[in-house]
Amino acid sequence: MKIAIMGAMIEEIEPILSALDGHPPQSDLAYILSNLKNVRLHSIAGNRYFEAKYKGHDIVVAYSKIGKVYAALTASVLVQHFKVERLLFSGVAGALNPDLKIGDLIAATKLCQHDLDITAFGHPYGYVPEGKIYIQSDEYLRMLAKEVAKEKGIDLKEGIIATGDQFVADPKRKEWIRKTFGADAIEMEGAAVAVVCDAFDVPFFVLRSISDAADMDAAFDFDEFLKHSSRRSADFIISMVEKLIG
Ligand code: ADE
Repeated sequence: MKIAIMGAMIEEIEPILSALDGHPPQSDLAYILSNLKNVRLHSIAGNRYFEAKYKGHDIVVAYSKIGKVYAALTASVLVQHFKVERLLFSGVAGALNPDLKIGDLIAATKLCQHDLDITAFGHPYGYVPEGKIYIQSDEYLRMLAKEVAKEKGIDLKEGIIATGDQFVADPKRKEWIRKTFGADAIEMEGAAVAVVCDAFDVPFFVLRSISDAADMDAAFDFDEFLKHSSRRSADFIISMVEKLIG
């Protein structure tokens, strides 16, 4: 089975790359690119894709850059060009649900676009004709995630993830998104991946580790916890890949 692992920032994909490539953890992209050992680099339409073999299976790690447009482009290339059969997203998110603390892991049950707005024409927020407000992630992959969490003694949360092209650091906007969509966490790529995978019928899974609370301190917390939370998410995703191919 060919599996994609996708992240939007170098910090999000590097722990996955180092695990697959066997190089020590590194955050300098130029260094990583010139020192890859077991991973083949492809540059397509301005994004980087890393092809690896893991326990006999083909894995493609993709670095999309931030935001819905880059995420949709990357997911489309993974599906159409690399012909991946499963897509797992790994990264960080801001917490909307007060029960979520920094470092916590949340798997998306379904995803929506909080900044999609044609309400002027009488449609609900997050909806366009022939689209859906929410897109469900794959149930089997979520079940697998629960098994991994149980085996590792990790308290994996599940919930609705809202995606938009905004880094939210504003209590009012945060509450509006929580209330309007019932969302538990917020990020900038998940729903774009969901739209693409749903359209191509590719099972997908979105995992996020909390880096901030989307409040006044969000930018500071994000910088402080990006690496740590990215690694928590990446480690979990690697365990899921092992279970998926095992
Ligand atoms: N990713 C991590 N934190 C976020 C936030 N506060 N807003 C949007 N995306 C995020």
